[in-house]
Amino acid sequence: MACNVSNVIGSPNGVSRHRPFDRWFRYPAGFSETTLRAAIDAARVKDGLVVDCFAGSGSVGTATPFTQADRSTQYVGIEAHPMIAELAAIKLKQPAEPPDLLLFIDELEGAVEPAPVPRSAVPDLIARSFESSTLADLLAWREAIKRRSESEWAPYAKWALLATLRDVASVSVGWPYQRPGRARQAPYADVGARVRARASMMVEDLIQRAFGARGTVVSGDCTKADTWKVALPDNAAAGCVTSPPYLNNFDYADATRLEAYFWGEAATWAELCQHIRVDMLVATTQQTGRDAAFTALEQLEAVPRFQGSVEKLSLALRSEREKRKRGKEYDRLISQYFAGIAEALTCLEARLDGDGRAAWVVGDSAPYGVYVDTPGMILELASEIGFEPIEDRLMRSRGQRWRTNGSRHQLLLSERLIVFRNPR
Ligand SMILES: C[S@@+](CC[C@H](N)C(=O)[O-])C[C@H]1O[C@@H](n2cnc3c(N)ncnc32)[C@H](O)[C@@H]1O
Repeated sequence: MACNVSNVIGSPNGVSRHRPFDRWFRYPAGFSETTLRAAIDAARVKDGLVVDCFAGSGSVGTATPFTQADRSTQYVGIEAHPMIAELAAIKLKQPAEPPDLLLFIDELEGAVEPAPVPRSAVPDLIARSFESSTLADLLAWREAIKRRSESEWAPYAKWALLATLRDVASVSVGWPYQRPGRARQAPYADVGARVRARASMMVEDLIQRAFGARGTVVSGDCTKADTWKVALPDNAAAGCVTSPPYLNNFDYADATRLEAYFWGEAATWAELCQHIRVDMLVATTQQTGRDAAFTALEQLEAVPRFQGSVEKLSLALRSEREKRKRGKEYDRLISQYFAGIAEALTCLEARLDGDGRAAWVVGDSAPYGVYVDTPGMILELASEIGFEPIEDRLMRSRGQRWRTNGSRHQLLLSERLIVFRNPR
């Protein structure tokens, strides 16, 4: 493949607890500062519109190029998780008077009326995650915010409250998944004080963004051309900076189950899949199916060389699955995942300016010890779709901590920045 492969080791990844805007809510998927900078630089966009088709909580859109006065860059994100799309979208709005958010919090505080809540009135996960008095406070705040939903500040207050949930939970709710069976001392007790602290951070970040924001985030599925029509109604994009889900079985819907159940977006697993996960790329074995995998492999007939690579890996994964009693269906996942990536790349190819560059951050994986070079394969796929591969750069090594786990594979994994351009 005609592209440079270079090695630059960056800092560990993950959304920052301290970086402005990232600290509003610790979404377990964001970029580290080093990776973010490298990806934005690699896309080489000085003017025009940058699309982030797997936008998550919007780390790209809140980074400096989109807030500098001397640039005319614009940001458009597409995000399939509807709640996270809302979070990213409010980060990109620039309210005229950010300190008014704190007046709104004062008003809410006056209106909050905690009352005992029968545990049966909330989903089991919520009932088990908080002490009774904390739960009563949280629900009273929730209702006060919902009563004022017409206010421009309501979504900010909502996210200040949602980010408070993990601060005041009395069970283990560390990322990625919530474990209501494992008790712990809640790090904070006062719901109102935590909501106010988050709201103050939001005000600080909004004020410090000297030149306002230039961007928006659309909630939807980036593998569908219709979503791109909404995201980019008249424009093509000058560049793309993004990070798709990795092929590592991480479930973005499940990871935010606490927030979704608490806010009432879903009350059961089926509702979570229906309301939160419906537009997401298939990236976990829980989302796979035999017929869907077969259809996905057929879809890849349009890119025959790549289809061959997927088929080979799928066979190796099937053979590993069959050695296990209740093996996971990685063999099906792999075709569905890459068929989704192929659709997203095809949409991007139709929308990216001639000579426009795409910079994607992606990790590889090794389910059942079968190595899947996801970044390399995406470059191979992009090239067969019509892009020109430019670079494959190592940003970080991953997986060292699994090496002590005898039941895991021993392969060292990586996170890489891949760059490709539209040669049109
Ligand atoms: C690696 S994360 C990106 C994180 C992001 N850089 C941030 O700042 O938070 C991948 C994101 O892609 C989203 N996603 C999955 N399938 C998608 C699809 N079909 N269309 C748009 N977004 C999708 C996931 O919900 C997740 O938020």
